[in-house]
Amino acid sequence: MPRVAELYFKTAVVFFIVGVMIGLNMAISQDYSVIGAHAHCNLLGWVSMALFGGYHALNPNKAERRIAMIQYYVYTAGVALLVPVLYLMLKGNTALEPVVALASLIIFAGVLLFAFIIFSPKQAAITPSAAPLR
Ligand code: HEM
Ligand code: HEM
Repeated sequence: MPRVAELYFKTAVVFFIVGVMIGLNMAISQDYSVIGAHAHCNLLGWVSMALFGGYHALNPNKAERRIAMIQYYVYTAGVALLVPVLYLMLKGNTALEPVVALASLIIFAGVLLFAFIIFSPKQAAITPSAAPLR
């Protein structure tokens, strides 16, 4: 499996563990104030990252491109920032709202980069070293 796909699945499962723990904590405490942090940790983390990893696993030549790794770091940084600050904001720390907004915009940048990867032609992924030898 391409490195970026492997990284995406490993990162996704970390957010899955955290997301499920927030869900269990909500269910046990009957305090649903952090529902947004739970939902987005699972959906932006586990689900979306697993989809990114799956796409790269199915398109290994696109996964080898530098932009795939850049997209991974931008998107992951956004989600890793969003989940804790959204959790704390929903717990009442309203001063964190601008940081939640910033994290959301970083995630949006990651989403746009992924759209660019999807729409970019496959041929662009062929490196000179992959050219047939004469
Ligand atoms: C053992 C694992 C999980 C537990 C204990 C759990 C628990 C909960 C609880 C207590 C709520 C609030 C329900 C309410 O307000 O009535 C909730 C909402 C939600 N959960 Fe989970 N959850 C789990 C896994 C997941 C996973 C894996 C996902 C996504 C892939 C997910 C997505 C959501 C979403 C989107 C909502 C919000 C639904 C809405 O807006 O009504 N949950 N969860
Ligand atoms: C940076 C990207 C995103 C932003 C800024 C965002 C923002 C929001 C906001 C403001 C709400 C309303 C929360 C409330 O009622 O208090 C919400 C709810 C929700 N969003 Fe997102 N969202 C994003 C990405 C996503 C994605 C990718 C998914 C699914 C794959 C998703 C699924 C949901 C669901 C299921 C709810 C209802 C559960 C809840 O109340 O938290 N969101 N989102």
